[in-house]
Amino acid sequence: MKGIILAGGAGTRLHPLTKVTSKQLLPVYDRPMIYYPLETLINAGIKEILIISDPVNIDNFIKLLGDGKDFDITITYKVQEKPEGLAQAFIIAEDFIGNDNVTMILGDNIFIGQDDVLKKAVTSFKTGGKIFVKQVPDPQRFGIAEFDSGGQVISIEEKPESPKSDFAVTGLYIYDSSVVKRAKAIQPSARGELEITDVNNLYLADKQLDVVRYEGFWLDTGTFDTLLEAANKVAELRKNKI
Ligand code: DAU
Repeated sequence: MKGIILAGGAGTRLHPLTKVTSKQLLPVYDRPMIYYPLETLINAGIKEILIISDPVNIDNFIKLLGDGKDFDITITYKVQEKPEGLAQAFIIAEDFIGNDNVTMILGDNIFIGQDDVLKKAVTSFKTGGKIFVKQVPDPQRFGIAEFDSGGQVISIEEKPESPKSDFAVTGLYIYDSSVVKRAKAIQPSARGELEITDVNNLYLADKQLDVVRYEGFWLDTGTFDTLLEAANKVAELRKNKI
């Protein structure tokens, strides 16, 4: 299993914080944000990680994390020239993925707890796709799952105006290597991005998408409030450990 951290994007929702630095380098309590998704992948047992970021910030990630030796893993880097969507990461990472399975995590997503569940999901993964959903108070901000009466997911909608549930698709995705072919098959959305939701819907159409409820703490730190909430949560955990 290979790992990808997607850490580019414009970060305009967090201006002026992100005017001169990358969102994923902002502090979350005592560490830069990217440490958290990195730790999630490492705790899941992944040892080969590709970090994708934009042309301006990539060098700072290299300075911060180097070749991964300090973490006992291998880290390599690739540039995404323009933020043209989450699914573009798989096209950029085509050679890195090769014939292997891949777990992608968004650089601004923080998962705390349930390490054992994620590790099992990664180590036992064989084929298709696996995503994790969690109930949120603000479903308009996310990819949202729609369930049938039997509790099976039948579609996923990206940032729906009238959400069909409050189960958001979190930013941790496990796929087989066919994800590259699928990412190449989709068209840019109305906002001009290759949407990961469209990739998930392709797996769903082939009955190859496993949707799991994530029971740990999860936040997308894309707003000032969730950034602060993430920092407070980490601070609380650190203090309780002392
Ligand atoms: O956090 C989970 C959500 O992430 C999912 O529920 C949505 O389905 C998914 O589309 C995504 O929504 P966001 O609106 O939060 O995505 P955002 O544009 O904020 O990008 C997520 C991260 O990926 C962020 O750290 C920036 C980075 N990014 C984004 C794009 C579009 C890139 O590195 N390159 C890109 O092209």
